[in-house]
Amino acid sequence: MPELKRIGILTGGGDSAGINACIRAIVRRAAKEGLEVWGFRDGWRGPIDDEAVLLSLDSVSGILPQGGTILGTSRTNPFRKVQKGGKTVWEPTEKVDRILHTLAKREVQVLIPIGGDDTLGVAWRLFEQHGVKVVGIPQTIDNDVAGTDYSLGFHSALSVVTEALDRLHTTAQSHHRVFIVEVMGRDAGWIAVLGGIAGGGDVILVPEEAFSVDEVLERIQERYARGRTFSIVVVAEGARPVELGGKPVAQEGKVDSFGHIQLGGVGYWLADRLRERGLECRVVVLGHLQRGGIATSFDRLLATRFGVAAVEFALQGKFGVMVGLRGHDIVAIPLGEALSQSPKPVDPVFLKLARAIGVR
Ligand code: F6P
Repeated sequence: MPELKRIGILTGGGDSAGINACIRAIVRRAAKEGLEVWGFRDGWRGPIDDEAVLLSLDSVSGILPQGGTILGTSRTNPFRKVQKGGKTVWEPTEKVDRILHTLAKREVQVLIPIGGDDTLGVAWRLFEQHGVKVVGIPQTIDNDVAGTDYSLGFHSALSVVTEALDRLHTTAQSHHRVFIVEVMGRDAGWIAVLGGIAGGGDVILVPEEAFSVDEVLERIQERYARGRTFSIVVVAEGARPVELGGKPVAQEGKVDSFGHIQLGGVGYWLADRLRERGLECRVVVLGHLQRGGIATSFDRLLATRFGVAAVEFALQGKFGVMVGLRGHDIVAIPLGEALSQSPKPVDPVFLKLARAIGVR
């Protein structure tokens, strides 16, 4: 490869706290090597529409604690999902040509996409099918990208959930109430389980294991029998009631460009079923509060490590990989390997931990 002079970055999919800290780290590390960094706007839309901004040390000054992404994000997908011989394949659309054209025109030699498995999946296909040199950074509050212990943004979302559960506990106790708290987590229960344990949830419902309304009721009644007149049920948006055939509660007809149905509503659905059984409850949907706001110190450190490592992998000519955290180490993981195991289910160690302290 000719000497590295110019890299591009973009942030795609659902945002989270910590992205800006990562952008800052990339720009600062790149500056030490005299590299130019172009930031594409709004995920994959940026290179498709050739919209980019030159990122200098000045433009990233002060963004460390800011939530969101200064580049904007979108769920733009330049590939199209088609069925071939009973298999799902992603075919390039003309948007892929536009991306290739933009990168060539701007002489961007390496692209660093920051996002979850959708954004990284596009990166992988651009690398594999079109030879684009990519180094991915896993960022999603859902923590469901395989190959890394933690994705950027997950820890900050957990802290929001924990604080919310702490707050709900006091009012639940005062009013002797049952609260159902719906948290994010489309395919995996990382936020529900780790947030639920940290915040003292009594019942935790995850996409990995179907649940029945009667089990939930039984658990709440057991608590009443022990003199606990309040309960907190933490339910992941992707949790699957057996009463619905093990399918999640979805917003009818709303599908994004990656083919994901918009989830949401399981909290209200469960509350209605419990009310039918004579149990009064309140519902709180934490929703996008989990993605907004400032990053925790853990996420700022992870963002800085990920950003620095991504630039260093690019300098070393390691492409078609993503950065990942394994234990204390930052490693390069082949994107194909990480994506073939995504979405990564919640580690059973944490489900066991919940059971060990009597949480369903
Ligand atoms: O970023 C992942 C995620 O948080 C999922 O848990 C959730 O289903 C989705 O984003 C919702 O995103 P939006 O409302 O922005 O489309």
